Amino acid sequence: MPDFMQKWGEYTARFEETLKKFCAGLDDCRPQILAESLRYSLNIGGKRIRPTLVYATGELLGVPCEAVEKFALALELIHTYSLIHDDLPEMDNDPFRRGKPSNHVVYGAGNAVLAGDGLLNCAFEILLEECAKGEARISAARFIAKSAGVYGMIAGQSADLLHENDKGADDGVLQFIYENKTGALITASVVAPSILCGGKYYSELSAFGRELGFLFQLTDDILDVEGDFGSLGKSTGKDQKEGKYTAVGLYGVENCKIQADLIASKCAGILDGIEGDISFLKDLVYFVRTRRK
Ligand code: IPE
Ligand code: IPE
Ligand code: MG
Ligand code: MG
Ligand code: MG
Repeated sequence: MPDFMQKWGEYTARFEETLKKFCAGLDDCRPQILAESLRYSLNIGGKRIRPTLVYATGELLGVPCEAVEKFALALELIHTYSLIHDDLPEMDNDPFRRGKPSNHVVYGAGNAVLAGDGLLNCAFEILLEECAKGEARISAARFIAKSAGVYGMIAGQSADLLHENDKGADDGVLQFIYENKTGALITASVVAPSILCGGKYYSELSAFGRELGFLFQLTDDILDVEGDFGSLGKSTGKDQKEGKYTAVGLYGVENCKIQADLIASKCAGILDGIEGDISFLKDLVYFVRTRRK
């Protein structure tokens, strides 16, 4: 997929420039350890799939990239905060993230909580500045807020904790956890650009985001069993150790691969209802299905 990789490279390079400016703006942040811990988690890597989705969907819908840029940034800040908190000993107790020691391992749990809180607040500051630019941006910001909050990512994380060591298979519970902890921010990444242009293909993109988010978490769970630390940059075998409620734990890895194939084709099929160049997003679905990192 040479065109896909090239495009991916262009989107992420654009995003890294935006992130660089954000990080440079933290120079006034005191004490220094706070700025340092924020920059640490943002700059140690990450696939940047959410910003890439924002840019790619924006381009598909004809929204200029400057109009979506701050939404891409806010989503990556929120995502990075969720990872810092997710790794804490009281949550998934994961000492590695993005190939480096997790934030709390370097700065301590208290500072890691604050780094996460800090990134979330920075994201909302950015979104509020966007809100001053008009109705559509207010709606997009509201959608992101809801997706990140107690009716979205946080709800999923809460259910994820609640169902640790729960051995009873319940697809409704699994769906709730995946759709919220992971699906909500991924959906917001493709729905926010739609809202910015008056809701173009809103229902198709909502459905696409929901399936892609589910697929993303399913492959994350498969990689927890079959992946390697070198490519993933995070510990493997953690889900079973922590008694996580995952499709792999409930149905086994081979069944999950079959389900992942089905979801990937459903997800790609949804794009056929959208006019324009959908090739990048289609390739992205298969990238997610076959990813090793
Ligand atoms: C990891 O997300 C957490 C999940 C939602 C499964 P990513 O796999 O996108 O993490 P980074 O941003 O590339 O580190
Ligand atoms: C995390 O799911 C989802 C978040 C909201 C961060 P996981 O706990 O499976 O993510 P990893 O495997 O630690 O990246
Ligand atoms: Mg987790
Ligand atoms: Mg985790
Ligand atoms: Mg995981």
